[in-house]
Amino acid sequence: MKVLVTGGTGYIGRVLVPDLVRNGYEVTVMDRGFLDYSDPSESFGDSVKIIRDDIRTCDPDLLRGLDAVVDLAALSNDPAGNLNTMSTWDINYIGRVRIARLAKKLGAGRYVVASSCSVYGFREGFCDEQTPVNPLTTYAEANVAVERDNLALNDSRFRSTALRFATVFGYSERFRLDLVINAMTFYGYKNGVIRMMRDGTQYRPFVHVKDVSRAIITAIGSEDDIGGKHINIGKESLNLQIRDVAEAIRRKLGGDTRIELYGDPDNRSYRVRFDLARDLLKFSTKYDLEYGISEILERCKAGLEDLPQMHTVDYYKLLISQEKSLSRFMGIRHRIVI
Ligand SMILES: NC(=O)c1ccc[n+]([C@@H]2O[C@H](COP(=O)([O-])OP(=O)(O)OC[C@H]3O[C@@H](n4cnc5c(N)ncnc54)[C@H](O)[C@@H]3O)[C@@H](O)[C@H]2O)c1
Repeated sequence: MKVLVTGGTGYIGRVLVPDLVRNGYEVTVMDRGFLDYSDPSESFGDSVKIIRDDIRTCDPDLLRGLDAVVDLAALSNDPAGNLNTMSTWDINYIGRVRIARLAKKLGAGRYVVASSCSVYGFREGFCDEQTPVNPLTTYAEANVAVERDNLALNDSRFRSTALRFATVFGYSERFRLDLVINAMTFYGYKNGVIRMMRDGTQYRPFVHVKDVSRAIITAIGSEDDIGGKHINIGKESLNLQIRDVAEAIRRKLGGDTRIELYGDPDNRSYRVRFDLARDLLKFSTKYDLEYGISEILERCKAGLEDLPQMHTVDYYKLLISQEKSLSRFMGIRHRIVI
């Protein structure tokens, strides 16, 4: 089965692509490589074709002859999405609608787009797929719009599914230090201080990056009726209060590690249910918080460095501030070829 992964050299892609290869898929990756600091071919192996291209402008022929498309390419969090909202709509909405329409037109039978539980906004109690969306940022709005348009393409020949991921954690070869568990663990190790946004009672849903990869592979291989659906990906018991995350990291680090509060009280709290993933997709997570913390600490002990590309929004700011990269980043007159 031939699969195209857009945005495949990013944080999730670096875990997903080798997993796809191990599961017997023939994989092509298309990515601008905005955040690459190591050569992805070293981790993907020779069998994976890597195309340095933009989802907004790539040659449509690149989507010919595929069985499935996994659409990960995006400006991948709220702060990056707020940097230049026009670029966010251009990439996260128009670009991903283009990819889905091309995939359908050129015969790929299955399409999975990476969405986010952030579409629920922040609200009391639990959210499930029936909860009305409440997007509070451009990033979340673009996810809602792309879900709407790309799920509408679903029919008997083109199965289109949106996976709404909880906040991801865990190690990847494009490590992200803008993700809360990763950052608290990394800096807890480096500085002996775990910085926690005040007051720590806020809930967030989390999912390990290896489980995200497993969920995507389950979705593209599924024979169940997941077309036209958005499905939350995570686990109820990983709806965690930030202070519990901090305590778990402190327990692992031991010694004199301190927890330090910062910022104004963060009232943004929400929890998510994952019954649909379990019942319809037949997917359950495997990896817990302790596993994620331990693997990051092992990497820290092996010399994991704090690289600029690990801070998504700061690195995009740096690219924009460099004239050469500004044109790379934004200066595209996209031709909508579908
Ligand atoms: N990591 C999380 O916590 C999380 C949670 C929910 C949803 N998601 C979604 O999953 C997807 C992947 O996230 P990630 O954590 O791997 O992010 P990432 O930023 O590490 O990867 C995104 C990749 O997309 C590429 N890209 C951006 N614009 C492009 C374009 N125009 N053309 C081609 N490539 C382009 C970047 O170069 C990057 O490699 C994103 O859509 C993100 O919004 C992530």
